Amino acid sequence: MAVTIKSPREIELMTKAGEILATVHEELEKFIKPGITTKDIDKLGEELIRSYDCIPSFLDYNGYPGSICVSINEEVVHGIPSPHRILREGDIVSLDAGVIYKGYHSDAARTYGVGRISEEARQLIEVTRESFFEGIKYAKEGNYLFDISGAIGKYANDRGYGVVRDLCGHGIGTDLHESPEIPNYEMPRKGLKLKAGMTLAIEPMINIGTHEVEWLDDDWTVITKDHSLSAHYENTVLITEGEPVLLSLKQ
Ligand code: MF3
Ligand code: CO
Repeated sequence: MAVTIKSPREIELMTKAGEILATVHEELEKFIKPGITTKDIDKLGEELIRSYDCIPSFLDYNGYPGSICVSINEEVVHGIPSPHRILREGDIVSLDAGVIYKGYHSDAARTYGVGRISEEARQLIEVTRESFFEGIKYAKEGNYLFDISGAIGKYANDRGYGVVRDLCGHGIGTDLHESPEIPNYEMPRKGLKLKAGMTLAIEPMINIGTHEVEWLDDDWTVITKDHSLSAHYENTVLITEGEPVLLSLKQ
């Protein structure tokens, strides 16, 4: 599928979807504490999403059985919510959520500490978030897609982290996953030329150790091969002629 340029009306709907998703993340962040289960997070997330007249886009997506992907510690992404999985003090937890508002998607992820966390965990979360902001410095009309990829990858690599290569960001709009695919590492080519009206879900996944990942037997949960901690940070971003607009983050 070709990369689409969204119309002003489509951008309006994606703006609304993003605002709602930002609010859902803010509410979920307040709920994070030791003792809750990953299913508790999923249940609250689904209720919040539906309360804003949205549909949770992940639920039943390729058979995924939750509304929020909840990934703890060495889990990179796509952890399945479970009533048996309890957050403990010192864990880090990544929440990835998607909403559909009037047919338009927004997708965003954050990683939080549960109670007090180690200094190395805190730094991982910080560098992952910073790598996203490093990448979007290049997210404007006239630049190339892989300018973003290279900036993210270099930022995390230079600080000694492993940058996940087996999963990428993506275009987003009427579908959760649209073209183009957006790697988080330096590419030998430039990639497509960015144009105003493109909407991209940019999502670095960064590990303390190796970049290598593997899948658990549930066929969803992605973990680091060396079981080192992993963090995730994602926003739905609108390309313009000037600064990018972070649709899923309140400014
Ligand atoms: N945010 C995730 C992504 O961009 C979506 C999770 S896939 C799902 O790939 F199946 F869990 F929904
Ligand atoms: Co995504």
